[in-house]
Amino acid sequence: MKNPVTVASGTFGYGQEYDRYFDVSRLGAVTTKSLSLEPRAGNKPPRIVETPAGMLNAIGLQNVGLEAYLRDKAPYLRGKGVPVIANIVGRTPEEYAELARRLEAADAADAIEANLSCPNVHDAKRARGARIVSQSPEAVGRFTEAIVSATRLPVFVKLTPNVLDIAEPALAAQEAGATGVSLINTLIGMAIDPETRRPRLANVVGGLSGPAIRPVAVKMVWDAARALDIPIIGMGGIATAADAIEFLLAGARAVAVGCISFRQPDAAVQIVDGIADYLVRHGISDVNELVGAVEV
Ligand SMILES: Cc1cc2nc3c(=O)[nH]c(=O)nc-3n(C[C@H](O)[C@H](O)[C@H](O)COP(=O)(O)O)c2cc1C
Repeated sequence: MKNPVTVASGTFGYGQEYDRYFDVSRLGAVTTKSLSLEPRAGNKPPRIVETPAGMLNAIGLQNVGLEAYLRDKAPYLRGKGVPVIANIVGRTPEEYAELARRLEAADAADAIEANLSCPNVHDAKRARGARIVSQSPEAVGRFTEAIVSATRLPVFVKLTPNVLDIAEPALAAQEAGATGVSLINTLIGMAIDPETRRPRLANVVGGLSGPAIRPVAVKMVWDAARALDIPIIGMGGIATAADAIEFLLAGARAVAVGCISFRQPDAAVQIVDGIADYLVRHGISDVNELVGAVEV
């Protein structure tokens, strides 16, 4: 990455959608929407609710599926010459492994980001609730091993913040051979309309993102950075260069700009420029000097 800024999966489509706002090759990398083997239609609407300083979403992993991605979407990003982080989602370790293998074989990605923040079908049956894969360090290890052994591409494991101690799944990813971890996915939340007494999302619950979650995300990056030797891509509520620098100081090696792009489509490139200005203002020649440099 020529700069430490990428975009958060699911908030930037497959890159081309933002073409008319700025040249996406100015980013350190483009991260795709989660890709599954088959296309997915996602959940019924309403699937987005605005909340104070953020939003709840229950998109339900709608995506075009791997084949259409390789045919219709990847050539655009490859033509731009920008590094591509392909975010993948599956039901089993084998599905993740197949996605990684086929993305590498088609030369359609420079790195894999495995979204392990979705419900675990097998655990859900046992626990009768929506258990998330990365809530179990054992499952993180199992899924990560399968992906890492299927590809030579760098593998980043994206973790849910809906846990007591983020260091546990993060360490499990490291031990299983992950190149790095991506923190954080959304915090599970719910909103109810008092007039109708109905949940505002058709899916009832959804994922909270936006500036409201930033302090939680910064703290989780800080916790994980002290436990890990591998790099962290930090995200959660980044809206400005100053927000991005918070994550670097907490220990992230790169950052991802998420749902702020819905309100300000060129936010990510503004943040690239803002970080460069900050480095000049502070006489810093290498952005890596900021990584973990918080003085506690
Ligand atoms: C509408 C929407 C869709 C998302 N879809 C995905 C997804 O497909 N895969 C994934 O790993 N994360 C997904 N996320 C989570 C984001 O990548 C990110 O981790 C989270 O939103 C926190 O960053 P933010 O507060 O800057 O948006 C989605 C978030 C939003 C708001």
